[in-house]
Amino acid sequence: MIQFINVSKSYDTDIILKDISFTIEKGELAFVTGPSGVGKTTLLRLIYCAERPDEGDIITAGWDLRKLKQNTIPFLRRNVGIVFQDFRLLLNKTVFENVALALRIHDMHPKEIKEHVNGVLKEVRLKHKENVFPHHLSGGEQQRVVIARAMVSKPTVLLADEPTGNLDSETSKAIMNLFRGINAKGTTVLIATHNDSLFQGTGRRVLHLRDGQVEKEFIG
Ligand SMILES: Nc1ncnc2c1ncn2[C@@H]1O[C@H](COP(=O)(O)OP(=O)(O)O)[C@@H](O)[C@H]1O
Ligand SMILES: [Mg+2]
Repeated sequence: MIQFINVSKSYDTDIILKDISFTIEKGELAFVTGPSGVGKTTLLRLIYCAERPDEGDIITAGWDLRKLKQNTIPFLRRNVGIVFQDFRLLLNKTVFENVALALRIHDMHPKEIKEHVNGVLKEVRLKHKENVFPHHLSGGEQQRVVIARAMVSKPTVLLADEPTGNLDSETSKAIMNLFRGINAKGTTVLIATHNDSLFQGTGRRVLHLRDGQVEKEFIG
C-alpha cells in the first residue's frame, strides 16, 4: 500500500533520508519512530507528495508518485487521509463544517455530504458536538474532529504525525483506539511518533529511523 524503493531526500546539504526501502502492506497499522529531527515528518510528507524525493521511487495506494503530475495530486490526496499538526481546525467553522469542508473537492450533493459527515462524527463519538466551534472542545475532542475530517473521504491510507502530541495518556489511548478501529475496517494506517508508549504492547510493526536510515524494525 505504501512502498519506498531506495528513497533519498536532502534539504540543501542536509541528508535527511538516505537510500530507504520499506513496504507497508495493505491493511497494516504501523509506526515510524526515532528521535526528534530524524525525518519522520519528512517521510510522511513524501507519501502524499508534499515533498518529492531526490532519488528513488514511492508508491502510495497504487500511485507511482514519480509519474504523478502536479495537477493529479488532488486525486492522490482523496485516497490519503492526513492527521497532521499543521492541518488544524478552522476556528470560525463548526465541527460539522470543518469535516464537511474536506468533501468540497468531491463534488457531492448536500444531502450526501450530510450523511457522510454525520457518519464519521458518530464514529468518533462527536455527533452531539456538530454545531460547536473548535475552541469549545477539549484537546482530545479536537483531535477526534481532525481524525473525522481525515476519514470522511474514506481514504485507503491514513497518515498521522504525532497524533497524540499534546494529549494526556488517557486521551492518547482513546485516540489510538480510534486508529485501531479505523484500521480494523480496512484502512492502512501509518503513525509517526517519538513517543515509545504509543506503540509499546500494540503488537504492530515499528520502523525505527536513525541517521537517515531504517536502523531497525521491530514489533511494538
Ligand atoms: N522544508 C524544510 N527545509 C529545510 N529543512 C527541513 C525542512 N523540513 C524539515 N527539515 C529538516 O529536516 C530534518 C528532519 O525533520 P523532520 O522530518 O521534521 O523530523 P522529525 O519529524 O523526525 O522530527 C530536521 O533537521 C529539519 O530541520
Ligand atoms: Mg515530526
